[in-house]
Amino acid sequence: MERPKIEVAPASRFVERALETVLERLNGRKLAKPFHLFLSGGSTPKAIYERLAEAPVSWVNVHVWWGDERFVPHDHPDSNYRMAYEALLHRIELPSWQVHPWPILSTPELSAETYHRDLSRAFGDGEEAPDLQLLGLGDDGHTASIFPETSALENRPVYAYGYTVDRILGPRLTLTFAGLRLSRTMLFLVKGRQKSQAVADTLEHGEGPAAGLQGKEETIWLVDSEAAADLTLEK
Ligand code: 6PG
Repeated sequence: MERPKIEVAPASRFVERALETVLERLNGRKLAKPFHLFLSGGSTPKAIYERLAEAPVSWVNVHVWWGDERFVPHDHPDSNYRMAYEALLHRIELPSWQVHPWPILSTPELSAETYHRDLSRAFGDGEEAPDLQLLGLGDDGHTASIFPETSALENRPVYAYGYTVDRILGPRLTLTFAGLRLSRTMLFLVKGRQKSQAVADTLEHGEGPAAGLQGKEETIWLVDSEAAADLTLEK
């Protein structure tokens, strides 16, 4: 297993470097094969998705999934699906059968069971795998919606989990560690001074849900200079 690659980009170049890194993999693929892109939510990736929508990409055979979702309707302001739809999906040609949002059903558990079934059908036999998993990092070190000191940290033999994080964050849907580890490439995109402690804790002290998380083939941490401020590793 290769060690994670850590790239520190100037804050002013972060979006550009993130876009270049995604495009290298999107455009370097075999067009005849399905390419499974797992999107991250939150605010960091929005600008990257907006640039991706304008980039010269062939979207043929690209399937879009999400690493996590808020348990809200797809048209809710907090929805990761809605953010990706507005920033990217409604601006590119992607047939609906290649877009795989988390289903928002009667309970988070049912939504997760359904997405686990879909993920198992797509990736269970190992023929195909998530090709590129985009991930963020919270100030508290969470990634996807695997939050510290919650039941989401348990290793469970399913790819998707639904639970209530706490009274403030409410119910969330997330890939489990097993689900995340299906990925060939994990690309963590972390920007901002408020993340610097979480980045150092994760990458240098091995603390937090994202510590040790690696793709099957490649793990890249693209961190801007602000979020890298507390890193002592050789950059
Ligand atoms: C979500 C994300 C989450 C996000 C981090 C960082 O649903 O919010 O998937 O894991 O990546 O919370 O969020 P920001 O990019 O907004 O800092």
